[in-house]
Amino acid sequence: MKITIEAKEYSSHEELSKKDQDLISFAIKHLDNSHSPYSNFKVGAAVRLENGKIWGGSNQENSSFPVGICAERVAISTASSQSPRVSMNTIAIVYSDNENNHDSPLAPCGMCRQAIREQTLIQKAPIKLILTTLHGRTSVISNADDLLPLSFTLKN
Ligand code: THU
Repeated sequence: MKITIEAKEYSSHEELSKKDQDLISFAIKHLDNSHSPYSNFKVGAAVRLENGKIWGGSNQENSSFPVGICAERVAISTASSQSPRVSMNTIAIVYSDNENNHDSPLAPCGMCRQAIREQTLIQKAPIKLILTTLHGRTSVISNADDLLPLSFTLKN
């Protein structure tokens, strides 16, 4: 077995479509809502639905560390609870730390990959991921499922 992941790389947000740039801006705005006093690492996510509606989320930490939740799962859960049964087309993810001198996009953690995978199974359609930075470097993965091959699902 051989598993490959394909990503398109961009060096600035301007190289993306207007729609995707708007989604990134929404994710960036959500950095302000991050509650991350423990890591000082803010993550913002924005989910665009099939009907054009956009929902956002940010990481929410807790003094009892495992209680904290990532931005991606906040955004997905918000989308599925506020706009139930509407497919999700694209998720943009961005981060900010104390220095903001990193220009390498964040890749979602394993738990978030599992959550995104469950959503693609529910909606029977792929979700595009836009992994980006404040400075513009971006990786676009056309099917988020590619990030979690051999996943555990209901079938198992
Ligand atoms: N975090 C996210 O929000 N998304 C990820 O994909 C990776 C990590 C958050 C969790 C925690 O609040 C902080 O980043 C540092 O790990």
